[in-house]
Amino acid sequence: MTEVRDDKPLLAALRGEVRHPPPLWLMRQAGRYLPEYRALRARAGSFLDLCYDPALATEASLQPLKRFALDGVILFSDILVVAEALGVKLWFQEGEGPRLEPIREGDTLPVFDRARQQRHLAPVYEAMRQVVVAAPAGTTVLGFAGAPWTLATYMVGGGRSRDFLAVKGWAYRDPEGFARLIETVQEAVADHLIAQLDAGADAVQIFDSWAGALPEGEFRRWCIAPVAKIVRAVKAAHPDTPVIGYPRGAGLAYERFAEETGVDAVSIDSTVPPEWAARHLQPRCTVQGNLDPAALVAGGEALQRAAGTILDALGHGPFVFNLGEGVVPQTPPDHVAALFDIVHSWQGGTTR
Ligand code: CP3
Repeated sequence: MTEVRDDKPLLAALRGEVRHPPPLWLMRQAGRYLPEYRALRARAGSFLDLCYDPALATEASLQPLKRFALDGVILFSDILVVAEALGVKLWFQEGEGPRLEPIREGDTLPVFDRARQQRHLAPVYEAMRQVVVAAPAGTTVLGFAGAPWTLATYMVGGGRSRDFLAVKGWAYRDPEGFARLIETVQEAVADHLIAQLDAGADAVQIFDSWAGALPEGEFRRWCIAPVAKIVRAVKAAHPDTPVIGYPRGAGLAYERFAEETGVDAVSIDSTVPPEWAARHLQPRCTVQGNLDPAALVAGGEALQRAAGTILDALGHGPFVFNLGEGVVPQTPPDHVAALFDIVHSWQGGTTR
């Protein structure tokens, strides 16, 4: 019996096993589409207060599991807490998203101070320990961090960038100086992922949400190279732990990312054709994705069709069903329940 209790389908799929039905979790599965999240967030006062209160962050992490038979639970936090741990001022403007005190070319760069970071992020690691204890048997616990490039877009842009001119301008004009910023963030991110694994996480995901803004050469230098170094550092500390990479918008460069970073799984955005991913990515690693969050908002036949196409293309190899990006606040929770029915009743579709 212990084998059954110890079995974690998501963890197994990340290690390359083919599972029927495929394991399922959703990026941003805890969030504003859930009324109980909105109530918890109101109780916390602000989003960051919620992130730094271990009991409340644990409760937020577990909320979606009370409704849906999720195979994974992701720690409730944010990628930007690492920027804050590096000494960058961070706040969330209501309705506008994150704001940071921008670092400009020529400014004194932040330094990675491990003791300071461990102190600043102690409540996050405490939340992880609590999630690990509370997670139902069979559920894979995921930690995460932002990739250096994506964190740099926020740290240099002072928030969400429209055209990435500040951060790219710096990278083009002064690559050596920009590389020092990326290296600092890379060290901080590796340490943050290792600390979440030390606290009991089963696997981690690296979010490079703005990878798609980088042309070929820049992609290798600012996305692939730092992510590869982070994967190496994580594997040195936790050799058997799967790492998921999510270079959103990478297009054809997903293949090189899968080959060169050393990740165990690649999370693909909704623009990647599932058949292409089955052919070019699945022979190398597990694929995660890639339902359009708008299909989950639409529901009904459209959801059935969109999910079916993905299952038929990717369900025969190592695969984790997920969205191509996070759940949006307009999503009816009933549609999420319907998605579980679709994935769990998938019969294998057409054979290849
Ligand atoms: O997936 C999960 O359920 C875990 C928690 C999680 C959050 N953010 C919670 C959150 C994760 C994994 C993230 C990652 C994150 N954060 C990314 C990478 C993924 C992506 O979406 O591209 C980025 C770029 C951020 C930075 C960030 N945090 C932005 C741009 C915003 C504002 C956007 C928005 O939806 O309002 C946030 C806030 C944020 N992070 C919210 C949540 C649930 C919404 C906060 C709220 O108003 O309650």
